[in-house]
Amino acid sequence: MQIFPNKLQQKLSERAKNNSLRSLPITENHIDFSSNDYLGFGQNEDIYANTFHYLLGKNISQNGATGSRLISGNHELYTELENYLTNFHQVESALVFNSGYDANIGFFSAVPQRNDLVFYDESIHASIRDGIKMGNAKSHKFKHNDLEDLSSKIELAVEGQSKELDTDIYIVTESVFSMDGDSPDLRAFSEFCKSNGFYFVVDEAHAVGVFGRKGTGLVQELELQEQIFARIITFGKAMGCHGAAVLGSTTLKSYLLNFSRSFMYTTGLPPHTLATIFSAYTFLGISNGITEQEALKENISVFKGKLNTLGLSKNFIPSESAIQSCVISGNDKVKSISKKLLDNGFNVKAILSPTVAEGEERLRFCLHSFNTKEEIGFVLQLLKNHL
Ligand SMILES: Cc1ncc(COP(=O)(O)O)c(C=O)c1O
Repeated sequence: MQIFPNKLQQKLSERAKNNSLRSLPITENHIDFSSNDYLGFGQNEDIYANTFHYLLGKNISQNGATGSRLISGNHELYTELENYLTNFHQVESALVFNSGYDANIGFFSAVPQRNDLVFYDESIHASIRDGIKMGNAKSHKFKHNDLEDLSSKIELAVEGQSKELDTDIYIVTESVFSMDGDSPDLRAFSEFCKSNGFYFVVDEAHAVGVFGRKGTGLVQELELQEQIFARIITFGKAMGCHGAAVLGSTTLKSYLLNFSRSFMYTTGLPPHTLATIFSAYTFLGISNGITEQEALKENISVFKGKLNTLGLSKNFIPSESAIQSCVISGNDKVKSISKKLLDNGFNVKAILSPTVAEGEERLRFCLHSFNTKEEIGFVLQLLKNHL
């Protein structure tokens, strides 16, 4: 057997020492308060059956994409899906990527240029940080959801930047934060960007399917779609399948398919995956889809009501979304409470440092349309008993 490098072994040992060593969980039939399948679409039999009918109706019996989209993988379903997304999300163009991770690294490594400045929320998703790191622009983080801090960070950075440089400024945030479940004041951010000529980019991974009429997302709920330079939407969360898209202008689409390396140098999605995304979207548009969205909203409100009656609201980060996080300091403590809930049949994920800052470890409850009120009551009572 090959020897494993000592430096890497030390890193693993360090993780084990901090009780933050990850391993792959075995999926069991626990009550789901951890997946991103907010509307139950990942298990939805109608969507599953519709995908097959759709493929059969189009006489498509192809397993793989056969190549990158720029070579042989640009299946006709891509065009159909991107046209559908354009209408549904009220935008000029949509470009489908293989995943949200790919979309974010592809966008942020390619769009901001040397001498440009990128300002990102300190709680931004790892895929955006990675993309920024791969690019050539300078970047600065601002305090979570804090427009004042953003404004002063910009002032400072611009002061230090030579006036000769042709600097474009990009501001990036999430409409629903994956670890906190909260949202920035998107209207205020968008107004700020508009009045200063900054390019505003919003990751809607956890908002699509949850907010907006028929699940269009928070940007459209607030009617801000005209003011956003680019939106990143993903299909692996509420849509219950896989993939992502960047929504923006036709020129942005053309730019990305010419310069975004995670788009260009990878095999396209299989037609079956595209058909599943299409089925999930059409399902959002019919009454059952709306019912799932309404059931989720109802469960969010039941959950928050229960937090109030149990006196737990102060432990949770305020959130109107399907993500409700209870801050429990310390990897050991949060892991042990998560384990106790699991022993009682409830899967609630412990989010450890370094994924979140030390001291801000948390139990992240992901709510779903299919959770029952009894399950919500029971899991929160258990949490209260163990806090
Ligand atoms: C805010 C955010 N953006 C992007 C992603 C990546 O999406 P995907 O799972 O499709 O790669 C995630 C997933 O965790 C996310 O939470």
